[in-house]
Amino acid sequence: MTILVLGGAGYIGSHTVYELIDNGEEIAVVDNLQTGHEEAIHPKARFYKGDIRDNNFLDEVFKKEKIDAVIHFAACSIVAESMNNPLKYYDNNICGTKILLESMIANGVDKIVFSSTAAVYGEPERIPIIETDRTEPANTYGETKLSMEKMFKWVEKAHNIRFVSLRYFNACGAHVSGKIGEDHSPETHLIPLILQVPNGKRKFISIFGDDYDTKDGTCIRDYIHVTDLARAHILAVKYLQNSGQSDIFNLGNGVGFTVKEVIDTARKVTGHTIPSHISPKRAGDPAKLIASSEKARQILGWKPQHDSLEEIISSAWMWHKNYPDGFKKST
Ligand code: UFG
Repeated sequence: MTILVLGGAGYIGSHTVYELIDNGEEIAVVDNLQTGHEEAIHPKARFYKGDIRDNNFLDEVFKKEKIDAVIHFAACSIVAESMNNPLKYYDNNICGTKILLESMIANGVDKIVFSSTAAVYGEPERIPIIETDRTEPANTYGETKLSMEKMFKWVEKAHNIRFVSLRYFNACGAHVSGKIGEDHSPETHLIPLILQVPNGKRKFISIFGDDYDTKDGTCIRDYIHVTDLARAHILAVKYLQNSGQSDIFNLGNGVGFTVKEVIDTARKVTGHTIPSHISPKRAGDPAKLIASSEKARQILGWKPQHDSLEEIISSAWMWHKNYPDGFKKST
């Protein structure tokens, strides 16, 4: 039986496909390559280029492949863009998921693991955040992910499709092989932006605000290695295959680092001075986001294996140093 990975050419999707194939699974990848990269798709995966909003295309893939479970990464995920163009997010994230669910129902596929986000919480009511804490997204991106979770909940009641929603905190790092890594355009994430400085593509890194109520005034985030996220998807598929009930899990290390600590660690890893400037705060950035992932540890048996910030940044640096222009220059 095959696992269908939607968005398997994207950052977290491609790393998950690598782990699944290393685990001996048969994989089919669907991606429209709008933000994903064909070069990131594992050569052993069967690739179908197309859009999840195209129901004829999706139906064909379901008919061709014997699909046991779906892992769904195919979504837009840039917070600022979601505020400027909210309907793009409603269309791709919510309408896309609706069409996917219709295809799953029509083709008798009843298990799905799905990417959610810490953005569903908005400004957290406490730290560390647990899954039952208040969800009040501060942006359209988080709102669409929360709506997708709710869509799964109601669809399960009518059609018995079980789901696992994985709420990622700050995904980062790159595959140990050095063959795949993070390549977004535009890049908005802290670690790849920092590494553009030693790569000669940026003169300094901007620190968005230094008067937050944290130990050094800069925002605290829970940075989690993309391979640890990938492994959680494999455990989640196994959990559903073993008749586990639908559920939602946070995925983070449970440890927070400030922006300044991340920059300092990158200086150590790269040996570059990496100048930084204080800039105005970015709208909608909570001061602190740290996950409690106790539930994923207890129920899925998940344990992050690359939890040192130095190791995370070293893996990202290996990728960015070798591929300063991302996948464009990898062939
Ligand atoms: N930051 C800077 N300078 C930069 C870029 C980022 O200081 O040039 C800071 C941000 O203000 C934030 C931290 O670095 O405090 C991390 O920022 P990222 O953009 O890397 O990540 P976010 O925490 O904003 O976003 C992550 C996920 C989103 C998710 C969000 C939930 O990438 O998908 O958490 O809040 F929606």
